[in-house]
Amino acid sequence: MTEQTTPQAEKPPLLTRIQQSVQRSPLFPGDDRERMKMVMNSLILHIHPSKVSKPALKFNYTFGLGGLLILLMTVLSVTGVLLLFVYTPSPDAAYDSMIALQTEIYFGNLIRNLHHWSGNLMVIVGLLHLLRVFYTAGFTRPREFNWVMGVSLLLLIVAANFTGYLLPWDQLAYWAVTVGTSLLDYIPLVGEPLTRLLLGGPEVGAATLTNFYGMHIALIPLAIFAIVSFHIWRVRKDTITVPRKFNEEADKEKVTTVPHLVSIELVFALVWLALLIAWSAFVNAPLEEAANPAHSPNPAKAAWYFMGFQELLLHFHSVFGAIVIPGLGLLGLALIPYLDQDMDSIGVWFHSIWGRVLTGLSFVLGVVATFGFVWLDEVWLDFPGWLPFLPSIINNGWVPLAFILLILYGYYELLKAFGSKTCEARQALFTFLLSSFVTLTLIGIFLRGEGMALIFPWS
Ligand code: HEM
Repeated sequence: MTEQTTPQAEKPPLLTRIQQSVQRSPLFPGDDRERMKMVMNSLILHIHPSKVSKPALKFNYTFGLGGLLILLMTVLSVTGVLLLFVYTPSPDAAYDSMIALQTEIYFGNLIRNLHHWSGNLMVIVGLLHLLRVFYTAGFTRPREFNWVMGVSLLLLIVAANFTGYLLPWDQLAYWAVTVGTSLLDYIPLVGEPLTRLLLGGPEVGAATLTNFYGMHIALIPLAIFAIVSFHIWRVRKDTITVPRKFNEEADKEKVTTVPHLVSIELVFALVWLALLIAWSAFVNAPLEEAANPAHSPNPAKAAWYFMGFQELLLHFHSVFGAIVIPGLGLLGLALIPYLDQDMDSIGVWFHSIWGRVLTGLSFVLGVVATFGFVWLDEVWLDFPGWLPFLPSIINNGWVPLAFILLILYGYYELLKAFGSKTCEARQALFTFLLSSFVTLTLIGIFLRGEGMALIFPWS
């Protein structure tokens, strides 16, 4: 009765009541320290299994690249939110907010640099992670769909970088986005309306800045977070591939995730964070003079990750350079797990010793052949001149593409004739195309001068 009349006086404070109910809960038995450990463990065990096979901890298997991507995503989210306090997405104010960041705001420059460099690094690390998975056959059953999700993540990472590129509203940003979006114009039928939709008008302007800002701070990050959650969930479900030579030992040799894996991840994350901060403290993100739509720089280049495509445009009909060839490449990349399922080489770098030799050889061949092609196209190759009676989409599109496909097919058959297994020959072909794309990108970045003319360092 007394209890009913003075309930307030006897009730412990809310915090104590919560603590007591947690203590009473069968979910958290034991003392405070144990409880804390359990909460942390259950958080960690959402992304990791409770035990992992010891060989999978070997650093030179994954190189921690997937984890590094998660770290970069975290750095980008934190620095991105901080930047929002200063940045104004309008052509009149965007550039000034960049200057304010660099000169008036405490640590503003460091935050901007961290955001800029982490975003660019994410493109490179995303590609390296893809290569790690490819060369260790980590895409094989049941991980095929997770590979496809990975490919879409790589596209989203590039899209996030590209939309962010415009935001400083300087000359570099304005013209790189003008060149980059002009690639879309070449899509037959829908190209022009699509570009207009993206730009919010016929050319890059205030509406483009608003569109890119919305995509950069909301749409693309949300899509990345959703797909990464799915991606990690699948890795957790399917388990990470284990190097073949350890397969039998893998089940026997298991260690607990906490502390064995988690402590490695923590040290790795701290080292990378320190490196990123040190780099960003000394190397500034580029910022040129304010955007001037009336004055185009010469040469006007796309962002570095699009330079390979801009280079393609110099050699092929625009529809082929901007759409057909990149489209075929992307389709091939997404379909890799459905074309090649050599279950024997799961977890083995480059399939075999012969696979390693072929990969190295194909990489060098790819560099030499691409340089040769670019140079020959400059001085001698002239399909449109040799076949003037055909429309340019044929003599400068279909014909050179057929020619290149024939060379690739010949190379593939040659590799097989020399006793390579199908998976080794396909890996060699992939490497050849990869090194060719990297070479085109480097040529575009370093060897193209005024009017996009080929300029050698010695000329
Ligand atoms: C935001 C981007 C990404 C994040 C955060 C991410 C994260 C991860 C993590 C943490 C793992 C566990 C193993 C490891 O660290 O290597 C993993 C595995 C995997 N990733 Fe990614 N990834 C991303 C992009 C990609 C891309 C671009 C691809 C390929 C197209 C890809 C395909 C895969 C596959 C197939 C696995 C399983 C591999 C195996 O079991 O050996 N991921 N990813």
